[in-house]
Amino acid sequence: MDKLNNPLNGIFITGTGTEIGKTIVAGGIATYLKECGLDVGVMKPISSGGTEDADFLKQITNLDEPLSLINPIVLKNPLAPSVASDLEGIDVNFSSIEQAYKILEKRHDILVVEGVGGIAVPLNKKQLVTHLIQELNLPIIIVGSLGLGTINHTLLTVTFAKQSNLQILGIILNSNDNYTHGLAEQTNPNEIERLTNIPVIGILPYQEEIDILNPDVKLISDFFKQNIDIQKFNEIIWSKD
Ligand SMILES: Nc1ncnc2c1ncn2[C@@H]1O[C@H](COP(=O)(O)OP(=O)(O)OP(=O)(O)O)[C@@H](O)[C@H]1O
Ligand SMILES: [Mg+2]
Repeated sequence: MDKLNNPLNGIFITGTGTEIGKTIVAGGIATYLKECGLDVGVMKPISSGGTEDADFLKQITNLDEPLSLINPIVLKNPLAPSVASDLEGIDVNFSSIEQAYKILEKRHDILVVEGVGGIAVPLNKKQLVTHLIQELNLPIIIVGSLGLGTINHTLLTVTFAKQSNLQILGIILNSNDNYTHGLAEQTNPNEIERLTNIPVIGILPYQEEIDILNPDVKLISDFFKQNIDIQKFNEIIWSKD
C-alpha cells in the first residue's frame, strides 16, 4: 500500500434501482478503506423516506460528523426526490450538497457517497442523479441485482452512465433476497462483463444476518472482503487514471 496517501478523492455508489444493495456496498467499501488506514467520510446527499442510510453509514464508520453534513437533504416521503420535494415544499438544489461535500472532503482522505435510487432518478424539475454525479465529479460503482433481469437493468444503467460521461469503475452484483442461486446467477456476471466491458468486481450472496438498522462493522467488513475481488478493487481505488 505504498500509494496509501494517494487514493481517489471519492466514489459514488449508485445502483440499477432502489433496494438493490447500495447501502450495504457503501458500508462494505467504507469499512474496508478504513482498515486500509484511510480516514473515510461518508455521504448520502439526498434521502427520501428517512435517514436510515445515513445513520447506517455514520455508525458503520464511527464517523464523528453531524448528520446534517452526511445527509444534507432529507425528504420524508419515500418517493423520487423531485416529487417528494414538491409535496414537502423543499427545494432540492445542489448548493447545500456541495457545501457539505467540500467540508467533508477537506476533513477526510476519501468520501464514499451513496446515491438515491438509480442514475435516472429525478432530483428536481431539471436534474437527475447523473447531474449530481457530474457536479461532484466522482467516479461510480454500479450495484446490480445478481438474479434474472439484471442484464437488461445493468446494460441500461451502463449505457446511460456512458452517455452522461460518467466514469464507471466497476459493477458489483448483490443478492438481496434468498432465492438467487440458479443458472442465471451463475452466468450473469460473465455476460454483463462481455456486454459492458466493465469489470464485475464482486458477487455478494444473500447474508441473512445483515441488518441496516443494527450496523455490525465486523459482519459488513468480512462480508465485503470475502466476496469482492480485492486486488481489482485496490487497483481501482489506488489508480487515478
Ligand atoms: N446481500 C444481502 N444479504 C441480505 N440482505 C441484504 C443484502 N443486500 C441487501 N440486503 C437488504 O436488502 C435491503 C436493501 O438493501 P440496501 O438498503 O443496501 O439497498 P439500497 O440500494 O441502498 O436501497 P435504497 O434505494 O433504499 O437506498 C436492506 O434491508 C438490506 O439489509
Ligand atoms: Mg440505501
